[in-house]
Amino acid sequence: MTLPDVAGCTAVVTGAASGIGFALAERFAGDGARVVMADVEAPALEQAADRLRERGAQVHPVITDVSDGEAVDALAAEAVDVFGPVHLLCNNAGVGAGGLTWELTTKDWEWVLGVNLWGVIHGLRAFLPGMLAHGEPAHVVNTASLAGHVSAPFMAPYGASKFAVVAISEALFHELAMTGSCVGVSVLCPGWVNTNIHSSERNRPGGGQADAPSGESAGMAVDMLRRVLSSGMDPAEVAALVVDAVREGAFYVFTHPDMMPAVETRAGAILQGHDPQLSMNL
Ligand SMILES: NC(=O)c1ccc[n+]([C@@H]2O[C@H](COP(=O)([O-])OP(=O)(O)OC[C@H]3O[C@@H](n4cnc5c(N)ncnc54)[C@H](O)[C@@H]3O)[C@@H](O)[C@H]2O)c1
Repeated sequence: MTLPDVAGCTAVVTGAASGIGFALAERFAGDGARVVMADVEAPALEQAADRLRERGAQVHPVITDVSDGEAVDALAAEAVDVFGPVHLLCNNAGVGAGGLTWELTTKDWEWVLGVNLWGVIHGLRAFLPGMLAHGEPAHVVNTASLAGHVSAPFMAPYGASKFAVVAISEALFHELAMTGSCVGVSVLCPGWVNTNIHSSERNRPGGGQADAPSGESAGMAVDMLRRVLSSGMDPAEVAALVVDAVREGAFYVFTHPDMMPAVETRAGAILQGHDPQLSMNL
């Protein structure tokens, strides 16, 4: 199922205050959609919405913690109240906490899985029934990652959340097809994109950095991430690929063809019974 034109749609984007989410909101609004921008970071969200409004965009910011099911239910209700039935849902909000797996705390796991995995689950549960019921063409984009196909050290909770988002999206693809629904789904699997995800700790519940991992391994992971992200893809290019996928009804949206050998290498190791390979491309 495709959504041939974003113009005139109601779109909802989570994590819309920064990075890929902001680029999606900017692109959809520029193409003539009404955009509900959801994010947990209040000042950044207001600024982001103001930037788009100044250009004449129809946007509506809603402060939302996607790990909170009731908050996502309220977001769905407000989106319909303000802009009408939802045609395009981007479950995009995400955070990363890194470090050696055995040094990570229960709070680290709960936070990353709460946002990256439960955020997607809540989004699907809260929005899909309405999107199916209105009967017009509609589309869901779940942001996973290349890390949903290839594992990397220091990223266990992040990888677990993204592998799960890929699995959920694949299940949903089959369910939507089998039920002949008007809704399509894509899973966005970016490689490195130049965003603020290296400073995810800014959005940890409770504020401050009290629960942030403080060991040497955590510092190494953040430094590594900041370095590679700074030379990553422009988020606007990711948004353009998403719009193409929504129009064409493409399921997998990979952004970095040069990183795909890592996916092949992993599949090869599984099939041949080899140990996991550490990809130098990631
Ligand atoms: N940047 C990359 O290289 C990259 C690669 C693959 C996948 N991704 C994924 O892209 C998505 C967007 O991340 P980004 O790179 O643009 O990072 P970013 O930090 O620039 O943007 C993420 C946004 O999510 C928001 N957010 C965090 N916790 C939230 C919560 N509980 N509820 C609602 N919003 C919340 C943040 O405030 C922020 O505005 C994430 O799912 C991330 O995992 C990013």
